[in-house]
Amino acid sequence: MPTTAATKKITTHTLRQMKASGEKISMLTAYDYTMARLLDEAGVDVLLVGDSAANVMAGYETTLPITLDQMIYHAASVVRAARRSLVIVDLPFGSYQEDARQALHSAVRVMKETGAHGIKLEGGESVIEAVQRIVAAGIPVMGHLGLTPQSIYQFGTYAVRAAEEKEAQKLLHDALLLQQAGCFALVLEKIPAKLAGEVTAQLSIPVIGIGAGKYVDGQVLVVHDMLGMNQAFKPRFLRQYANLQEVIQEAVRQYVADVKSQQFPGEHEQY
Ligand code: KIV
Repeated sequence: MPTTAATKKITTHTLRQMKASGEKISMLTAYDYTMARLLDEAGVDVLLVGDSAANVMAGYETTLPITLDQMIYHAASVVRAARRSLVIVDLPFGSYQEDARQALHSAVRVMKETGAHGIKLEGGESVIEAVQRIVAAGIPVMGHLGLTPQSIYQFGTYAVRAAEEKEAQKLLHDALLLQQAGCFALVLEKIPAKLAGEVTAQLSIPVIGIGAGKYVDGQVLVVHDMLGMNQAFKPRFLRQYANLQEVIQEAVRQYVADVKSQQFPGEHEQY
């Protein structure tokens, strides 16, 4: 039976079962209490407190500036709303790259100060020790390969990754290492669908894609993008399920007009 919004809490174990049974995993980003409540109630399996908060919440061009303290603030707000969804939190840039000890320290802070259920970090071979150390402490870790926005200055573009054979082989190698190191799931961002399918078939852990096509175990999108809150951002992989930019701006235009024309508040909207 598919896992519905009415059934019990999602765990990392549930995600493994979903992969095994072929039920696709739904994941969306969330950064605040109210949105997280709406997503949780609507049946999203995983809420990712992504470091994309740096972009969509704070207006930075990249994800690099957001701090661990700021991620903890967002994550604690999301956890307070989550009744059913699994909550995973991105370790931000600079909070785990030094060494495994620093990575563990950051992961422990996230778990203790937010009540989240696990962390996500970007990278392959270079983060294996960090993954092992965090997993050994009993903290679930989600990996992230392909387009890794924290390394944007190394690559210089947000173009599709691993389109060439050599990079594709490296990605598959890294994915296997992450699984071996104990990751419970893996995000693949902006890579060819065929490669994502091959990785998904070779791994026993769930693979969740963003711009990685349909042959994966689940999908993730940035919630502000899929709700159409920024009509200027329309990459090919993004499906917009609403046009909230229009809905919100129309409501606000109406409010401004009502205030100006003294149509608001009315007789029944005052004491
Ligand atoms: O930060 C984020 O939103 C992410 C997703 C794009 C996977 O890492």
